[in-house]
Order: sequence, then C-alpha cells, then structure tokens
Amino acid sequence: MSNSTEMPSDPIKAGWESPSNIAIIKYWGKHSKQLPRNSSVSFTLSTAATRTFVTIKDENETGKVDLDFVFNGKANLTFSARVEKFLNSICDEYLPFLKKYSIHVDTSNSFPHSSGIASSASGMSALALCLCDLENQLKGKIEFDDDFFRKASEVSRLGSGSACRSIYPEMAVWGQHEDILDASDEYGISIGHHIHPVFKSFHDDILIISAGEKSVSSTAGHNLMEGNPFAPVRYKQANQRMRSLISALKHGNISEFGKIAEDEAMTLHALMMCSDPSYILMEEGTLSVIKKIKHFREQTSIPVFFTLDAGPNVHVLYPDEFENQVNTFIQDELKPYCNEGRIIRDKVGTGPEKIC
Ligand code: DP6
Repeated sequence: MSNSTEMPSDPIKAGWESPSNIAIIKYWGKHSKQLPRNSSVSFTLSTAATRTFVTIKDENETGKVDLDFVFNGKANLTFSARVEKFLNSICDEYLPFLKKYSIHVDTSNSFPHSSGIASSASGMSALALCLCDLENQLKGKIEFDDDFFRKASEVSRLGSGSACRSIYPEMAVWGQHEDILDASDEYGISIGHHIHPVFKSFHDDILIISAGEKSVSSTAGHNLMEGNPFAPVRYKQANQRMRSLISALKHGNISEFGKIAEDEAMTLHALMMCSDPSYILMEEGTLSVIKKIKHFREQTSIPVFFTLDAGPNVHVLYPDEFENQVNTFIQDELKPYCNEGRIIRDKVGTGPEKIC
C-alpha cells in the first residue's frame, strides 16, 4: 500500500473472456454459502460470453472494497452493487488483496443485455478468473494450473452458483455425486474427457422468446425450493438422472441424453409452478416451440431436443451432423415465435480465454 514516502506501484491488469453454460441436469435449490442441493451438469457454450478487464492500483487506504464498475462502457448501479457485495463476501476468506487496492472493472457481454440470456454465469466466471489471475500476478506465479481454475471456479460459485461450471471446456459437473469421485459442492470439475465425441460439437441454438426482465430471479427461485413439498423428491430424482446422463454421455446415447434434457426442463418449470407463491416463467411461445420440436423429431427422426433455463427462452440442442436440417426447421417454423426473430446460434465451446 502506498504511504507518503513510498510511490504507488504501476497498476496491474487482467482480462478474461468467459462463456455462458446451459445445464442439462439443473441446479435448483441451494443452502448455506451457495452450496447446491443436488449435482448438476452443463455444456459450456461458445458464443454467449462476457469479456471482463480488472485493473487494480495500490491506492486504497479505506480498509474497504473500493470499486469502480463499468458495464458496456457505462456506469451501471445495479450490477455495480451486486459486484461490490460479491467482492465484500469473498475478500477476507479468498482474496484479501482486494481490500488493499482500488479496483476498476470493465465488463461487456457478447450478447445484448436485453436478450433475456442469463449473464451471471459468464459474468461471474470472467470476473473470478480476472481476480485469481491478479492474485497470481501479485504472488509472482505465471502458470494457470488446475489449482488456479479450481479456485476461480470456487470464487465464481460464490458470485453465482452456475458460474462455477463455466470455467471448464465442453462439459462440467458441480456438486457431489457418488458416481463422480472428484465432484465437489465447492467448485465445478471438467468432465470433457469422459464424454463421447458426438457431444463435443453439440449445438445449442437459443431462441429468444422474450427479452424482458424475469418476474422472479433465479436466486429467489432457489430460495422458494426450501418450502417446496416436492423438493426432497426432486433432489433424489436429480441424482438418479445424473447417473443415467453420465452413462449416456459416455456411450454417445443421444436419445437418452435428449430425454433427460427435456425431462429436466419440464421438472424445473413444474417446480416453479408448485412453489408458494407459484409462478410461471414460460410464455405461450415457449410451449408452441416445445410442441413443434417434438413434432419435428417424431416426423423426421432427427435427434433434436429442447431445454430451458429459468426463463421463457428455448435452447435447441442437436448434434453437428444435423445442422442444416435443423437450421431450416428453425428458420421456417420456430423463428416466428422469437422476439424480433432473435436467435443466438451457439455451440459447445472450449472454455474461458485469457485476453490480456
Ligand atoms: C435454472 O446460478 O443463476 O439456470 O446461484 O442464485 O446465482 P444463483 O443462481 P443461478 O441459477 C441457475 C439455475 C438454472 C440451472 C443451472 O444453471 O444449473
């Protein structure tokens, strides 16, 4: 830290781009400090991503987190407050240097904020990677080893649970499961090396049914699971589905994968509908698209499936070899249900990238 006799040292900077992810087995319900009630698994995406740069200067003598936050080139009080709360929650236990520096965060998304795409997974993972990178630099470490990514995943989780899975390429698991020895509730792990090649080039075309703000946030939704009478059954079911999915992923069993993906989407939204108070995040267009996808699959035998996040948008999942047929189907039959025809064509991706 600077004082009257010492000159402040040069600012230190880190930049990472980190992708969003789409869960196949959903994390829905949490306890304690952002710990999941069941294990979850997701595809790491490629196109939907957040780019974040963090610069620190040793000129903070307040003893508190000193944050200057910019989103898409402008101040954003809502996001800034969330990030400040997050930094305060992690600094003592995980990254004590944060209180000694003034912190400038400059972040932007590759997708429009108004697209209804959850940005917390990409945003919090990109931020956590930058913070752990800065810690490395301060300690004179240069390598980005397994411990680095594990810590970044753990720090991400404290910002947003699903973010801890975005740290890894292809597919990641978060939450203990008896079939996955190294899985943990504290951080995500990579399972890319355990999956059949067909899943490594899977597509996820995100149909933007509605771009509006969600009526109930994911965090509020997780909390409502605490009083949901179906919650214990749900957590057991998630762990059983996890077992079946891990086997399907390993053996390249696409139809089993698709069945589980769709069942999970329906379960997630059913849980919302039987929360107290109950709520619905699907729109009419969501249901119409789901019916069309099922019908198309029945008619053509092309393995195309849907999943949903905690919102109305539909993720269309299919193997790379059917790209042309599915794209024609989406353009002809599903695009009319999309808000201003908006579709984000995404794919399984290679994970976060250091950008400075
Ligand atoms: C439905 O990770 O957004 O997308 O931990 O409160 O930030 P917080 O919640 P969040 O929840 C994501 C829920 C989900 C399923 C999933 O991604 O596993």
